[in-house]
Amino acid sequence: MSVSGDLNLNSFWMPFTSNRSFKANPRLIERAQGMFYYTADNREILDGIAGLWCCNAGHCHPQIVEAVQKQVATLDYATAFNLGHSKVFELAERVTDIAPEGLDYAFFVNSGSEAVDTALKMALAYHRIRGEGSRTRLIGRERGYHGVGFGGISVGGIVANRKMFGTLLAGVDHLPHTHNLDHNAFSQGLPAWGAHLADELERIVALHDASTIAAVIVEPIAGSTGVLMPPKGYLQRLRDICDKHGILLIFDEVITGFGRTGKAFASERFGVTPDLITMAKGLTSGVVPMGGVLASKHIYDTFMTGPENMIEFFHGYTYSGHPLAAAAGLATLDLYKKEGLFARALEMEQRWGDAIHSLKGLPNVIDLRNLGLIGAIELEPIAGQPTKRAMDVFARCYDDGLLIRTTGDTIALSPPLIIEDEHIERIVDTLTRALKATA
Ligand SMILES: Cc1ncc(COP(=O)(O)O)c(C=O)c1O
Repeated sequence: MSVSGDLNLNSFWMPFTSNRSFKANPRLIERAQGMFYYTADNREILDGIAGLWCCNAGHCHPQIVEAVQKQVATLDYATAFNLGHSKVFELAERVTDIAPEGLDYAFFVNSGSEAVDTALKMALAYHRIRGEGSRTRLIGRERGYHGVGFGGISVGGIVANRKMFGTLLAGVDHLPHTHNLDHNAFSQGLPAWGAHLADELERIVALHDASTIAAVIVEPIAGSTGVLMPPKGYLQRLRDICDKHGILLIFDEVITGFGRTGKAFASERFGVTPDLITMAKGLTSGVVPMGGVLASKHIYDTFMTGPENMIEFFHGYTYSGHPLAAAAGLATLDLYKKEGLFARALEMEQRWGDAIHSLKGLPNVIDLRNLGLIGAIELEPIAGQPTKRAMDVFARCYDDGLLIRTTGDTIALSPPLIIEDEHIERIVDTLTRALKATA
């Protein structure tokens, strides 16, 4: 039996975790405030990853806490199926106000994975309603992460997330990923090389025929496979090819939404507007689970045909638009606006990027990447032991008071948007010590 103090750790089957290693050496968090977590023995841990790319407004902000407390005492739950409460309508209006032009409708879910499955289903149903029911194929990308639903792992491109789970969705194909250290190592911001990789979509269209393809889904910045920035011009080329062939373009903005790139959405930052955006995480600053899909007016209008008494989209979750999540979302959007946090992320970008790139030359660092308040440090894997080097750095940093995230042998950083210079310095100093100590 695994115990930590009086706590029995046995029964919780932990997600995406090496359960036995964790339970042998647990890391337990007790509370959080602003930029910091605190352990049970009151050790301060600087949060270098905003929880998990979600607590963009920092932890336990009183304004969000109060809004949720008030809501739970007023209306705990109401279904959104044929019933409504004001906050979810308000939230839809507020989030579409900051969305790219033309994405005028918001469908709410509870997570990024659900947002992805919802967007894929919207795309399939949209074509069918328009009389193009042969468009059933979905195109993802190698090294993509779109959550863990069957739709998401099918279009995703992470082998460990796919190989155990059978045949997945039929009729999926994948674009090549864009990561190439020979051409792009140590790029600041977007790499110059690689826009031509979007042309692979033309090859896929030629192979399957456009009449069989419903949608292409990509993360504007791929997060979970090591923070891969889109080459300059790449996303626009995807947009152009999709338009040429009547294919919908979905941007999975679960991590890039809500200020991470210095704008409300990466679509705005990169000047490319997709037909559907998936979102989650920063929508409520991680306080209450919530995700959503932003849809273009054209897609929504296509569904709003047929008899008026009929359900237009046979899809939804018991907790779609949950009052607590809606209240948290509204308070979060208020805070982002009041404190100008998206602009702040953009303002900090240069200092943050310089700090990340100051790690060049440290042991085993083979690439550094940055944009907005995102940073990545790619390490040379230990021969025959992939992921170990980065995990060793993770453990060192944690013991030294810094939470980072590792994906493969890449360290990913995505701090709360309230980060100050002193925190950036501390992140760099702690990482420097850890990289030297694990060399
Ligand atoms: C791009 C992207 N899509 C989807 C997801 C899945 O979100 P969730 O874990 O909320 O289901 C994630 C999670 O990190 C993500 O990064």
